[in-house]
Amino acid sequence: MIQQRISDLKARRNAIILVHNYQPPEIQDIADFCGDSLELSIRAAETDADVIVFCGVHFMAETASIVCPDKTVLLPDFNAGCPMADMITPQALAAKLKELGDMPVVTYVNSPAAVKAMSTVCCTSANVVKVVNSLEEKEILMTPDRNLATYAQGYTDKTLHLWPGWCPVHDALRPEDIETARRDHPGALVMAHPECRPEVTALADAVLSTSGMLRHAAESDRTEFIVATENGILYPLQKACPDKRFYWASESMVCPDMKKIGLADVAACLETLAPEVKVPREIQQKALAAVQRMLEIV
Ligand code: 13P
Ligand code: SF4
Repeated sequence: MIQQRISDLKARRNAIILVHNYQPPEIQDIADFCGDSLELSIRAAETDADVIVFCGVHFMAETASIVCPDKTVLLPDFNAGCPMADMITPQALAAKLKELGDMPVVTYVNSPAAVKAMSTVCCTSANVVKVVNSLEEKEILMTPDRNLATYAQGYTDKTLHLWPGWCPVHDALRPEDIETARRDHPGALVMAHPECRPEVTALADAVLSTSGMLRHAAESDRTEFIVATENGILYPLQKACPDKRFYWASESMVCPDMKKIGLADVAACLETLAPEVKVPREIQQKALAAVQRMLEIV
């Protein structure tokens, strides 16, 4: 059985398998730890394994490589990227800062390592408000997600300058989708990810990271939930709360990049120790300062 082979290889390599909440069920089932971007970067920073198998997308494996430069970080399918992370480059960021004047840059972890290296501090969907309010300056450039920045703007008196980036999966959700889901499931509580458009988050009962949704659903006395994020989250939600019911806000909320990794890819990468994600030392050290500053805030 392939799961047994993965387990044997994992022991042989002294490896840990970190898995994002959107990954396919069979990948979540072989995880040493499953979580949101923030929890996964904390776990990567803490592990004493030699090899980290990162089942998620490229920027997440890069973040693991930033916090663990001496470990082997494997991304079982090297083509698993994030279109939002590709909406910013170091050159474009430098040009924007020239235009706006010097100011702190808060960069969402869904970004390339070279952009993190130019940033003051990173943030995730779980800590964006805390990170923004931790800065002394009154004006901040937020990259690359305009929706996350707009969400944070609602919880700060600072002026946030937005970068024109977005997640194609979350940004496609419309208020009408929430209204239809509410009509179909009256009484259900709506949880939305802050990557959704402001007109969508305005209709939600709670705006949360993926693991925030897992905690909120477990702690709530409500029994039915409409979930406005990538649909892979329904599997851990249902697993954590078997007596509650979860409905997607739209069946089209599927991130193709999060579905690329299969069990055979995990076994193969443990066998060959490839494909490896390695951030060049100079970028890694600068990016680490921005990631570490974030980790000290939460
Ligand atoms: P979380 O950090 O909330 O898990 O989100 C990651 C992501 O890519 C959302 O699209
Ligand atoms: Fe990127 Fe969106 Fe996929 Fe998350 S869901 S990995 S932000 S494309």
